[in-house]
Amino acid sequence: MAPTRSILSVVALTLLVHGSADAVNQNCLKDQFYDQLCPDAERVIQNAVFAELDKNLSNAAAIIRLQFHDCFVGGCEASVLLDGDDTEKSSVSAHLRGFEVVDAAKTAVEAICPGVVSCADVLAYAARDSAIKLNGTGWAVQGGRRDGLVAFSVAAAEEDIPSPDLDVTQLIANFAVKGLSARQMVVLSGSHSSGVGHCDKVVARLYNFSAARPTDPSLDPEYAEELKRRCPNAPVAKSVEVAMDSATPQTLDSDYFLGLTARKGLFASDQALFEDRRTTDIVASLHDGRRFASEFGEAMRAMGAIGVRARGQIRRNCRKVNTW
Ligand code: HEM
Repeated sequence: MAPTRSILSVVALTLLVHGSADAVNQNCLKDQFYDQLCPDAERVIQNAVFAELDKNLSNAAAIIRLQFHDCFVGGCEASVLLDGDDTEKSSVSAHLRGFEVVDAAKTAVEAICPGVVSCADVLAYAARDSAIKLNGTGWAVQGGRRDGLVAFSVAAAEEDIPSPDLDVTQLIANFAVKGLSARQMVVLSGSHSSGVGHCDKVVARLYNFSAARPTDPSLDPEYAEELKRRCPNAPVAKSVEVAMDSATPQTLDSDYFLGLTARKGLFASDQALFEDRRTTDIVASLHDGRRFASEFGEAMRAMGAIGVRARGQIRRNCRKVNTW
């Protein structure tokens, strides 16, 4: 991770694409942005997202994560949705998914209002609607993002996306570069109360933690044994999925924070939030489900405002830039 370099590269890219630094401007975001432009947009997007998630609810967590990856890499401008050989979405180890849900929502809104709703906005609405489907509470989503013209490489994306072995100092720094506080970092980590990770990100904690202690001592011993059964120390097992919140894997709730207190955080970066004195109290305060729900919505709004473009395209197809 190299935050300074990544800020510079985003600024440089913005200048390159748009010709002026004021192209990054979150003042273009508004609540009820489409009320005049396309009054049914939010309803049509939500219906399409719900229909897709009724076929496969596991995509709900994936969509929330897609917005995180979109906003942390070059700002919320839908670069994560662009197809290509070396693009953010092509990273095998990132395991990004759920793109067909965004496609369905975009197709539905294009059918009623062609060329009006950006892909970055569709993704922001879809993330909120996914949270609702996971029994989470929704939030008011601001609209007005423009779509970028450039997909970032896998390597560029890896500079901005935090890795699961970061400690709290590194996590705080990673989010601070994006203008988010330590508290918002912890709150947003609560999205790990639904969805899955893969064994390749966990095996080092189970078998190679240190010479003296092969298993990470911050893991609850029973949970560590359960993870070892799920993730044997063999190359073939590395692509196996594990629920990130073993208590309630398909709900967006505060059980994730209860799990951290019980030392059942899947990744080192999760468990570190409970172990570090700077964030322990924040974790404890988020045991309160209502508090988590309201702070999560606020933090998603803040995340959804990162690096928003005042200028750019409204892509017709979220997978490629318009060429006409
Ligand atoms: C705090 C730093 C974070 C780290 C280190 C981190 C790391 C990860 C990793 C390694 C995975 C699993 C990848 C895989 O093996 O499949 C994952 C999954 C996930 N992350 Fe994070 N993440 C962080 C923050 C966030 C944020 C801010 C959000 C959303 C706001 C988020 C939402 C998710 C979701 C929903 C999944 C499950 C996706 C699925 O089921 O496909 N994460 N994260």
